[in-house]
Amino acid sequence: MANFAYQTLISPESDQRYDLNEIVSASSDAYSLLDVEYEWDKIPVPKSLKEFESRWQNRRNPLDFSGVWRFRDLLPFAPENQIVTIGEGQTILQKSEAIGRYVGMKKGELHLQYEGLNPSGSFKDNGMTAASTHANMMGAKFAACASTGNTSASLAIYGSTSKKFRVVVFIGSGKIAYGKLSQALDFDSKTIQILGDFDDALVRVREVCDENGIYLCNSVNPFRLEGQKTIMYRVLESLNWEVPDWIVVPGGNLGNSSAFGKAFSELKYLGLIDRIPRLAVINATGANTLYQLYEKQGVRWNQGHPDRKKIDSYFEKMDTEGRKANTLATAIEINRPVNLTKCLRALEVCDGVVREVSDQDILNAKAQIGANGFGCEPASAASVAGAKLLRSEGVIGSGDRVVCILTGHQLKDPNITVGYHSANKEVFEKTLGEHGVTKAPYANQPIAVENDLEKILELLSQFGKKE
Ligand code: F0G
Repeated sequence: MANFAYQTLISPESDQRYDLNEIVSASSDAYSLLDVEYEWDKIPVPKSLKEFESRWQNRRNPLDFSGVWRFRDLLPFAPENQIVTIGEGQTILQKSEAIGRYVGMKKGELHLQYEGLNPSGSFKDNGMTAASTHANMMGAKFAACASTGNTSASLAIYGSTSKKFRVVVFIGSGKIAYGKLSQALDFDSKTIQILGDFDDALVRVREVCDENGIYLCNSVNPFRLEGQKTIMYRVLESLNWEVPDWIVVPGGNLGNSSAFGKAFSELKYLGLIDRIPRLAVINATGANTLYQLYEKQGVRWNQGHPDRKKIDSYFEKMDTEGRKANTLATAIEINRPVNLTKCLRALEVCDGVVREVSDQDILNAKAQIGANGFGCEPASAASVAGAKLLRSEGVIGSGDRVVCILTGHQLKDPNITVGYHSANKEVFEKTLGEHGVTKAPYANQPIAVENDLEKILELLSQFGKKE
């Protein structure tokens, strides 16, 4: 296999190709990201997606059990005996009438893709199994990442379970959700907290990896995105290989959206699907670089030549004004998304749109997702809040089939959830107030009652009467 896959720069100014066995991901700049490119005409690929179903019968083989590697023919960069898997990708696509109604669907179908069911509780494991595999192919002794929390939790669990490499994670000071920080610590990674935010940590870890030959596992690593393509394969699989009308995904560093675009353009090229769904990438209002550039300034992929002047001057202005991303959805609190150009390509391929949603809308959507499904962390709920917005604009039709990606588990960020549902005004304001969240229309407040049997029974007798 290895001879038929390369790392190539997506920048059209360069036709540089790297062998699969070169580690170059750490040194590419913002405009020249690496891609994994396959010589598909030399690789045996199933004639129909349905053929993958035969792997279900072989679940004792860890590669067939994995929701990533059972599609290994579509990410064929690794020799099978070097694949690092911990059973990732056992996720569920739930059709939800209640969330459909919340979003405003009348006839169509609303589905929630629960990526929180992965081993470390987020979609990152789809990518980390692929990056860990490549690290293993390279014989890496150390792997590192910067993170708003989930990437570090994911890399840490791959290090602790596989024992293939030691893990160093860089996090910014302040805003990491405790569920995620606790994972990095518990899974025995060296956790380095630097003064600064995620963007600062990412710049630093790229330097550190360059200097020290440490294997970098952020989504600038093109192998990460190869694994994340499989989220889309599993969505199609759950829909009996039918292509939905919309994929709606939160946007942070834009790795997921980039991977989804690559997945669909490859499937179309291979003749495995006949059409490509539309993609909606949802920013938080407080971290809306993509929204500003794509929707407000009209920056497009433009056959690999996005308007660099506009992009650079946007970032310059951000710096001179001292503007920093700020949202309760800490997972997507990012100023300079590293996969910006790849995401522009995905938006082109998928006839995409970008929207921003407020923290208030995110938390309301999150409460609805919790009350009607498996729940999610704040950033994930941006997808449902975004679908609701696009439905109200009439961009998503009431009869469309929509898949919202729930990227992280409900338990990742309990403080925000408890703050939203709290009956204590002080707790509510302390947790949510500074982000402009003033209401909790879907709060399920805990009820204080005396420790008295009669009073408790009386309270219980009221249940169901109000609704
Ligand atoms: N949702 C969750 C729960 C995330 O953790 C992230 C990213 C995103 C959405 C955004 O995905 O970057 O592919 O656009 N978290 C990264 C981290 C940045 O460090 O864990 P993206």
